[in-house]
Amino acid sequence: MKYIIGNWKSNKTQGEVEDWFKDLNNLLARSGAVEFKNLEIVICPPLIYLPYVRELINKYKLPLKTGAQNLSQFDQGAYTGEVTGSMIAQYAKYVLIGHSERRKYFQEMDAVLFEKAKLAKAVGLIPVYCVPDDKTNIPNEITIVAYEPVWAIGTGQADTPRNAGKVMGKIKKAHSQIANLIYGGSVTPQNVKSFMDVEMIDGVLPGKASLDARLFWQIITNASD
Ligand code: PGA
Repeated sequence: MKYIIGNWKSNKTQGEVEDWFKDLNNLLARSGAVEFKNLEIVICPPLIYLPYVRELINKYKLPLKTGAQNLSQFDQGAYTGEVTGSMIAQYAKYVLIGHSERRKYFQEMDAVLFEKAKLAKAVGLIPVYCVPDDKTNIPNEITIVAYEPVWAIGTGQADTPRNAGKVMGKIKKAHSQIANLIYGGSVTPQNVKSFMDVEMIDGVLPGKASLDARLFWQIITNASD
């Protein structure tokens, strides 16, 4: 199984979410595809749109799964503004943890991220644990890791598939429990295949290119070629 995980980050109005799904549905209908063989396609919208995204996926009967971009480090209780794993688990299968933007702008460090991983697992969410290099700590319960070099995120300057595979090899060697390794950082329709072709790489995590349904669709089709 290979993964394509679109991370919308903090983008889109509800109307734009609706348009994205209309566009993707049209592209899919035109192609005649009803499923993506051996591909797990995941969309991670801002939390507030998760129920709506689920609704649209059901409406159009799309072969897509949902993921959250974050979860609270606490269980439910008096934590104003937080959304817990169990709330998210009603609407999503996956959750990103430790994205470099969470580490940089929200000062999320190992202790908090390890707690989040534990809570995600406890409610049946599958954590996709993001690390910027092969030196970053990874909790024991993690089975899917996204390698995302900070300098490649949103810069148009992707890592080379060869180097990404090398770094992932080191990560895998240090953490034998990891089943899948995914690359993120300036993934485009043009470079996706070169990453998918590397034996060590089990998928990609596009940010910017997932915002446009046409580009995301091209990533899916180019990845499966
Ligand atoms: P990018 O983002 O594709 O826009 O570089 C990737 C990510 O941050 O997950």
